[in-house]
Amino acid sequence: VTAEKAGFDHFMLKEIYEQPKAYRDTMMGRISADGRSVELKEIGMTPEQIRSIRNIQIVACGTAYHAGMVGKTIIESLARIPVEIDVASEYRYRSPIITPETLVIVVSQSGETADTLAALREAKRCGARVLAITNVVGSSVSREANDVIITQAGPEIAVASTKAYTSQLIAFMLYGLFLADTLATREKDWIADVLASMQKLPDQVEMILERAQVLKQVAESLAKHNNLFFIGRGVDFAVAQEGSLKLKEISYIHSEAYPAGELKHGTLALIEEGIPVVALITQEDLYEKTLSNIKEVKARGAHVLGLVNEGSEVEVDELFAIPCTLPLLSPALSVVPLQLLAYYASLARGNDVDKPRNLAKSVTVE
Ligand code: G6P
Repeated sequence: VTAEKAGFDHFMLKEIYEQPKAYRDTMMGRISADGRSVELKEIGMTPEQIRSIRNIQIVACGTAYHAGMVGKTIIESLARIPVEIDVASEYRYRSPIITPETLVIVVSQSGETADTLAALREAKRCGARVLAITNVVGSSVSREANDVIITQAGPEIAVASTKAYTSQLIAFMLYGLFLADTLATREKDWIADVLASMQKLPDQVEMILERAQVLKQVAESLAKHNNLFFIGRGVDFAVAQEGSLKLKEISYIHSEAYPAGELKHGTLALIEEGIPVVALITQEDLYEKTLSNIKEVKARGAHVLGLVNEGSEVEVDELFAIPCTLPLLSPALSVVPLQLLAYYASLARGNDVDKPRNLAKSVTVE
């Protein structure tokens, strides 16, 4: 078993460290030789069929759902197609409006999650075309979808998903750029610039991993608390949700992720002296707004860990900077310190990191 973990104490840590490779492998063979366009040979839709898409529905569970939240922002921003997102166990029961011009994107690491599979079948029954983003070749989801993008994360063993999530983000970026190119919603030069930034991500993740010890120390003090908050706006909120889920899954510390601007409408009542708040502030256009929310919690005594872009100064108790990238790509970096926080908090509490209580890697019952 030690050999399988390649010298790491846990599968989760090994998988966190495999992310640079997972990013490279997921991009490999999908970017043209001149670096100017995305080639998704696995997508069978004709340009005409793509132009006929009127709406997109993303359906997934757990961590894959959180990747879908970022995916919604990516697709709406790049392709200007309206995107709805649902957790799979809700989707079928809300009578979603599905037409032949609806594209349903199901996201699933395992490709076997019962609720996600049921949603896929329902979407197909209603005439939608289904695209699956999955990590497992030959999985049920991959066999039943019309089109499949395989994330090349490699096998993920730890129950808490890490490299599968980040590979899903890469897959959404590739697909978003592919749509933007086909629909001509973005200039070719712009697409080339984004692809160049994406190819820098693996090295930038390495730079974060090199500073893991800093996060270990922060996590050890977080582990003494029973409640904490994650806040952010835009894709930072989507990442906040994933960071919060990761922490809950393996450290059993209760946390809530909140859109930073929504705190004052209720949740601010829970902020008291010493409570840890992890604040994500990576989106330039939302910077001032989030900053004022950070001040709101600080004024009430919160102990704030700020996750910022390199070079940005925010007055908080602790600061962790991520390398600079494009706003839409920042989730692929900012989630990494949150994965490490969860890992080290779980370790500090003496939990079974790879096999948290009550949870299963793949849930094949509805
Ligand atoms: C389980 C796992 C989660 C995972 C979710 C969806 O609940 O514990 O980590 O995110 O299923 O799994 P999938 O394989 O569909 O991505």
